Amino acid sequence: MAFVSVSDFEQKASVELEKNALDYYKSGAGEQLTLRLNREAFQRVVRLRFNLGFWLLGLLRLRPRCLRDVSQLEISCMILGHHIEFPLGIAPVAMQKMAHPVGEIGNARAAGVAGCIFILSTLATTSLEDLAAAAPETCKWFQLYIYKDRALTESLVRRAENAGFKALVLTVDAPVFGQRRDDVRNKFSLPSHLSLANFHGELASGVVSVIGGSGLSEYVVSQFDPTVTWQDIKWLKLLTHLPIIVKGVLTAEDAELAREFGCAGIIVSNHGGRQLDSTPATIEVLPEIVKAVGKDLVVMLDGGIREGNDILKALALGAQMVFIGRPSIWALACDGLRGVEQLLGLLRKDFEISMALTGCRTLADIQATMVVPESAYRRLK
Ligand code: FNR
Repeated sequence: MAFVSVSDFEQKASVELEKNALDYYKSGAGEQLTLRLNREAFQRVVRLRFNLGFWLLGLLRLRPRCLRDVSQLEISCMILGHHIEFPLGIAPVAMQKMAHPVGEIGNARAAGVAGCIFILSTLATTSLEDLAAAAPETCKWFQLYIYKDRALTESLVRRAENAGFKALVLTVDAPVFGQRRDDVRNKFSLPSHLSLANFHGELASGVVSVIGGSGLSEYVVSQFDPTVTWQDIKWLKLLTHLPIIVKGVLTAEDAELAREFGCAGIIVSNHGGRQLDSTPATIEVLPEIVKAVGKDLVVMLDGGIREGNDILKALALGAQMVFIGRPSIWALACDGLRGVEQLLGLLRKDFEISMALTGCRTLADIQATMVVPESAYRRLK
């Protein structure tokens, strides 16, 4: 089968994966409103605080420029001191060996080949050390959840430093896990031949239900520390020299706190619609966050990125780079490492076409004026 879009990978993966895993990967929380919105906001209705300072409602349209010599595009960039080949990375997604036996290593190696950043989840089925050994060339960041056991959390940070990870991505939108109804119905558990490879004993094999719902949700409630506040960023900063990026910020107020507490960057994220349902799409909140902290922090975004135009729209609205979550899993399920290589090649090509057709030769040419709500045109009539 020829894969020409992310949907092609998704379709094939839906056939390849067994129900427990497929439902886990694709689900959003609650009524899945935010899950749908993440995607629709790029395609259809989006509300932007447009230049004029008020909210407009409309389709997100591109305003292309022409006759600007796009024969040689320059799409590489620097993020937190690292050169990356194009402004897309792989977001942390837990338990990737359910999708394919190569698991996280397939995604990390493919990211390395493409010159992209790969983020390893705390809840990975490959340990930090094994991943680092298998993908030494890849720029790797480690996603951290803070456990009630702070000594254990500290040891994860130390291991990330020792294994050569370049940044810590602290996920801040998951003091408890969102209610993913399919996981509750399926009594989701990690298949018994797999484990959470960053841990030993109970913590490694503990994603099974004791009380009859989602095993993952029960694990999170028993292990993650819900008392965490912004003050804990200070604790983390004392522990490590690695830059800290907070993932899961959706408001200008929290972005300003991230700056105040010395974070290096932010990933504007609603966890792919898997945590609080009814939050806005990430592309909707991006402008207010960029306006508040864009000059001081690296602002990145994930949620619903599926094609080159999405990357271009996010960059036009002020993100420095974007990440994909589910698409990397669909590609892994289709063909392991080769599937993800194909996916990243396809998205790169698609982004280059978006740039050429909007008259952008470099990333700096992508301007806010290139993205307008449809209603801006209606107002001109
Ligand atoms: C996630 N995400 C996630 N985030 C995180 O910080 N730690 C994690 O362990 C996970 N695990 C995880 C599992 C699955 C199956 C999904 C789909 C997502 C959220 C992820 O990093 C990212 O924010 C979203 O996936 C981005 O949205 P898209 O690209 O999936 O639409």
